Amino acid sequence: METDIQVNSPDGTYPIRIQNGILGTITHYSQLGLNRPPLVITDSNLAPLHAQAFADKIGASCAVMPAGEANKHLSTVANLYSDAVKAKLDRGSAIIAFGGGVVGDVAGFVASTYLRGVGFIQIPTSLLAMVDSSVGGKVGVDLPEGKNLVGAFKQPLAVYIDSDVLGTLPAREWICGMAEVIKHGLLADEGLLNPDLHHVARADELVKRAVQVKVGVVQRDPYEHGERAHLNLGHTFGHAVEQVTHYEWAHGEAVGIGLLLATMLSHRMGFCDEALIARVEGILTQIGLPTRLNGLDPEAIYSAMFTDKKRKDGQLRFILLKGVGQPFIAENVAKDDVIAVLSAIR
Ligand SMILES: NC(=O)c1ccc[n+]([C@@H]2O[C@H](COP(=O)([O-])OP(=O)(O)OC[C@H]3O[C@@H](n4cnc5c(N)ncnc54)[C@H](O)[C@@H]3O)[C@@H](O)[C@H]2O)c1
Ligand SMILES: [Zn+2]
Repeated sequence: METDIQVNSPDGTYPIRIQNGILGTITHYSQLGLNRPPLVITDSNLAPLHAQAFADKIGASCAVMPAGEANKHLSTVANLYSDAVKAKLDRGSAIIAFGGGVVGDVAGFVASTYLRGVGFIQIPTSLLAMVDSSVGGKVGVDLPEGKNLVGAFKQPLAVYIDSDVLGTLPAREWICGMAEVIKHGLLADEGLLNPDLHHVARADELVKRAVQVKVGVVQRDPYEHGERAHLNLGHTFGHAVEQVTHYEWAHGEAVGIGLLLATMLSHRMGFCDEALIARVEGILTQIGLPTRLNGLDPEAIYSAMFTDKKRKDGQLRFILLKGVGQPFIAENVAKDDVIAVLSAIR
């Protein structure tokens, strides 16, 4: 199956090409629309599996960063600037991010700042990166004080999604990516909630539909002045769960239970039907995502919500649902309601 989705961004239009096996068909960088050798940036897991061979084949240099969120910081960026110098990139060159969301965010930040900006192409390899981080132009790194505190908007020239690479993705990473897919389903595409689609074998279709949701949102609100906040569904709870578990819970696991908690809160506050709670819980269970907090303290989770560095003015903000496809922003949610839903699935 071959799909091109055109994305209108503030910096022009770019294609997302979704095609099983597409990477195998690219044998030279000129096929990517480039007129000089690019630099492929990847991580230490992807390099031996896919990225080094791809870079060699298309005539690109390859720079490898150590894998993992712990390396999404400025010293990694500094090393990659040296790699860019060694690769003799000039302002007409491009950087290709080949990896998950960490590689995409780091490589995109390098591409947006090296020589005040070079071309940027995304080849996302995790489900999360395919449906979420590779679309929308946000790039950046973490600081010791918090995640994603330094960054930029950098729109890619193109995004290439080849579901073949998912064959090597660890199961837990697939499951975590599914949390964002379900988020997109709850936000805007009920079809994504259908369990028949939730298999690697259906990845092309799943990714295509999930990407469409994100594309729609970021096209309407590229700089997060309004609607883009809806993409934080489940994330106010999720970020707090990640924090209190010292990141023992992966992002997707925390977001998954965050989706359940947001649905419970929506119902408790009178916005959605009770049936939606059971439906979300059933979907999470089927995917293999947790639906219980395994004893985590509701008060601790609630406090953690207030330490989010990017939160404005000390107000807690939740994205809630009036139903599938009907998200809205709720301010001033009462502490009692938040504690109640946390306690209910403690
Ligand atoms: N820019 C955005 O809009 C945006 C949106 C959401 C998330 N993010 C960021 O994305 C990051 C999370 O992304 P992620 O979950 O992809 O993490 P990741 O990049 O760390 O990838 C997860 C793990 O899977 C491995 N991996 C990836 N693809 C593989 C494949 N095909 N085969 C084998 N192993 C593979 C990676 O090496 C890594 O160990 C976070 O830093 C988050 O802040 C950014
Ligand atoms: Zn997320």
